[in-house]
Amino acid sequence: MSEPAANRTNPAAVDEDALVEEARAARAHAYAPYSGFPVGAAVATDAGVFRGVNVENASYPVGTCAERVAAAAAVAGGASRIDAVAVAGPSADPTRPCGACRQFLNEFGSRMLVISAGSSGERRRWSLTDLLPEAFGPDALHGS
Ligand code: THU
Repeated sequence: MSEPAANRTNPAAVDEDALVEEARAARAHAYAPYSGFPVGAAVATDAGVFRGVNVENASYPVGTCAERVAAAAAVAGGASRIDAVAVAGPSADPTRPCGACRQFLNEFGSRMLVISAGSSGERRRWSLTDLLPEAFGPDALHGS
């Protein structure tokens, strides 16, 4: 992923149910011994689906979120854009991606679909643009 591809996303092509299932399956591998809050994520990209989990650390701030791990796996796997991300947290209320993850994801598709599934089946959907309005993104640098 050598060039920013934020404007080429295609959220409409995503199988949302399948992506949520990928996120739920990933959650089983979360490493969250400190928070006890295991999260799974899955991203749909032009190179397929990639999973992530939160990976915590004894040095607490070093840990990272499931969404960022999934996005990094996608980059390593050769993806050039992210069309959608699904999040599966442990709470009944669908987990909202943290601010750092919103910024990290914005790099790979400001219009991507964000889906979050709660443990009891409730689902929320947003466009990343709504979660991170007026974002600082690749265009700010490439347009300069
Ligand atoms: N976490 C995620 O992985 N994704 C989110 O969307 C919210 C929070 C993780 C970070 C930390 O390991 C744990 O959940 C509690 O904050």
